[in-house]
Amino acid sequence: MERISHALVTGGAGFIGSHLVDELVAGGCRVTVLDNLSTGHRHNIDHLGDRIDFVEGDIRDEGLLNKVVKGCEVVFHQAAVVSVSQSVQDPSHACEINDLGTVRVLDASRRNGVRRVVMASSSAVYGDDPRMPKTEDMAPMPLSPYAVQKLTGEFYASVFGGLYGLETVCLRYFNVFGPRQDPSSPYSGVISIFLKKASAGEAPTIYGDGGQSRDFIYVKDVVRANVLAATEAPAAGQVLNVGTGTSIRIRDLWELIGELSNVKIDPVFGPPRAGDIRESISDIGRIRQSLGFKPRVVLRQGLIDTLAWYRAPS
Ligand SMILES: NC(=O)c1ccc[n+]([C@@H]2O[C@H](COP(=O)([O-])OP(=O)(O)OC[C@H]3O[C@@H](n4cnc5c(N)ncnc54)[C@H](O)[C@@H]3O)[C@@H](O)[C@H]2O)c1
Repeated sequence: MERISHALVTGGAGFIGSHLVDELVAGGCRVTVLDNLSTGHRHNIDHLGDRIDFVEGDIRDEGLLNKVVKGCEVVFHQAAVVSVSQSVQDPSHACEINDLGTVRVLDASRRNGVRRVVMASSSAVYGDDPRMPKTEDMAPMPLSPYAVQKLTGEFYASVFGGLYGLETVCLRYFNVFGPRQDPSSPYSGVISIFLKKASAGEAPTIYGDGGQSRDFIYVKDVVRANVLAATEAPAAGQVLNVGTGTSIRIRDLWELIGELSNVKIDPVFGPPRAGDIRESISDIGRIRQSLGFKPRVVLRQGLIDTLAWYRAPS
């Protein structure tokens, strides 16, 4: 990877953020992590010891942000209330972190001479528009406070580019999975929950009829997209999908996980969840063109690696 001298990763103790921190450190980058450990964990980054600077704190804390961003060339903004359901239950709290927090990160970045901010957005901004695959030029149709907040973050990023010349890139992640995804809360990613259930020999609950489909991308591919977004010149000012361009139905996913884990258990079906969308599949033409990005890990292999990690976390 082209060298990044010093980066701040907000949410760097979380699932995606911690993999990004690993990659940056491996590439010789000095890394500062800012995380309030609300859903992230120290154990995700403990193995890096004093090779990173870990700061426990909140992205809404302006004074702290100004301190930790000083000297950084790139900011990777991953911190957020990440759950759609949680944003439905408590939209104000999610708004404070996902919108106010994001503005504070952008503002501290432009005041302190950061070259580029790479922001974690989400495919949730597309809502339930029946047109597939999702292309970045489709009109967004957010269906949850979380989706509105991610979209607002994208608009702020664009405005900070126009007003202050701050380079920004917004990455619309589709459904990310892999080692370290926390299966312990009802808000967790479906793959982490299914893998946990399969390992325990228990039936998962599928909300709705299981016919809803998702585009699952392996976390290491998402990390590569972030690094390219930080280093490739044509990325500046862009909003880019980060997915695989393929999708699978949730009930078929459970079958595949059953096959890989050697269990055959019928799922329990529950009521559909508020704010959930029916279908989701990315078009990755734009990110391929501007960053040369193509996912490398297919779903089956990613599941095998993730299953191995759940059985023996490292
Ligand atoms: N996992 C996915 O499938 C997915 C899909 C689309 C977008 N995203 C986005 O990717 C980013 C990373 O998500 P993740 O899946 O790694 O979730 P995660 O919960 O593991 O990571 C989020 C991190 O942010 C930290 N955090 C939350 N609020 C904070 C605050 N106020 N101040 C400082 N730190 C705070 C948490 O402690 C956690 O470490 C998020 O912005 C999320 O919205 C994730």
